[in-house]
Amino acid sequence: MSYLAKNYNRKKISFNRGKGSFLFSNNGKKYLDFVQGIAVNSLGHAHPKLIKILNKQSKKLWHVSNAFIIPEGEQLAKKIAKKTFADFIMFQNSGAEATEAAIKVAKRYFYSIGKPHKNRILCIKNSFHGRTLAAIYASGSKKMTEGFGPRVVGFDHFKFGDHKDLKKKINKNTAAIMVETIMGESGIKVIPDWCLKGLRRLCDKKKILLILDEVQCGIGRTGDFFAFEKSKIKPDIVPIAKGIGGGFPIGAVLMNKKVASAMTSGTHGSTFGGNPLAMKVGNEVMDIISKKSFLNKVKKHSKYFHNKLIKIKQKYPKIIKEVRGRGFLIGLQVYNDQIGFIKKLMDNRLLTIKASENVIRILPPLNVRKSEIDEAIKILNKVCSTY
Ligand SMILES: Cc1ncc(COP(=O)(O)O)c(C=O)c1O
Repeated sequence: MSYLAKNYNRKKISFNRGKGSFLFSNNGKKYLDFVQGIAVNSLGHAHPKLIKILNKQSKKLWHVSNAFIIPEGEQLAKKIAKKTFADFIMFQNSGAEATEAAIKVAKRYFYSIGKPHKNRILCIKNSFHGRTLAAIYASGSKKMTEGFGPRVVGFDHFKFGDHKDLKKKINKNTAAIMVETIMGESGIKVIPDWCLKGLRRLCDKKKILLILDEVQCGIGRTGDFFAFEKSKIKPDIVPIAKGIGGGFPIGAVLMNKKVASAMTSGTHGSTFGGNPLAMKVGNEVMDIISKKSFLNKVKKHSKYFHNKLIKIKQKYPKIIKEVRGRGFLIGLQVYNDQIGFIKKLMDNRLLTIKASENVIRILPPLNVRKSEIDEAIKILNKVCSTY
């Protein structure tokens, strides 16, 4: 009998230890973990540097209120600001909190410049921005919002890839467009760089803000620190989470100076967000992932992985429909029943996770070894050959 609520459809397996790319189950089996807590353990399990910093800080100071200056948070904010478009950062604890706070920043900005009517956020229909009430209505998914009425107002939606629909839905009340740079849960759908450029141009023309949700695709996952970097655009607001904590719950909203000016004392807060323990871990993750040499390795290894996956697709064209994604945010779209395929992979000791549109999501740690990629390819080939 489990006393946990039944809101997850859990697989009948549990783990007691992790090391790098591997998880060890309670019944003594070793699994190649290409889920990594859904892009959370960016440096794999039990990274020695993260263990060291966590142990050290745990003996000094865990938590103080944001009523006081937290030097560890100041330090991490400075590092992020120096490496990115951001001028200011607000720390949270999770992705949904970060996207909610991003929405608040956009609304508050227009309020602060005397245009409070500009308070609607335009999002992609069936996207994913988290599970809080505002985030599910931002996502515009019938399934996620079912039973959670009344509707949280202030969100409009356009169809993915439908530029006409996008332009039609912008009105005098629109404050911002919010999209995932790469749509994760919805099936690893990349917004091409030229579209990101177009989005920026459109936002400038209409004098509205651009929010890019990089909760899943950011923090080195694509080989760039942010997935939008290749497009050379600068968003106004970027919520992040997952990878920045390397397994420790951290979220944050990154903003430019213009919008940050609206976030005056008392406009937002979080009891836990940005505490010394979280910030120390975040600093260490940032130091490792933001290095050019680290990101170059992500680019090199992920290219190798993609090429191998494309070969599998060519070998099994009736099973694999498409290889999607960028860097180590990979989607393998199959023609039928991705759940059964994921189960077979798991039986062969490779852990992956589903996304919409019959996609198998593959999320290795960013520091995965080439030999581990080879191992995954071997398992994928084997499952394809018997499917
Ligand atoms: C793009 C995106 N935004 C927001 C979230 C919500 O993050 P969390 O589950 O930490 O609240 C997720 C989680 O998967 C995500 O992928």
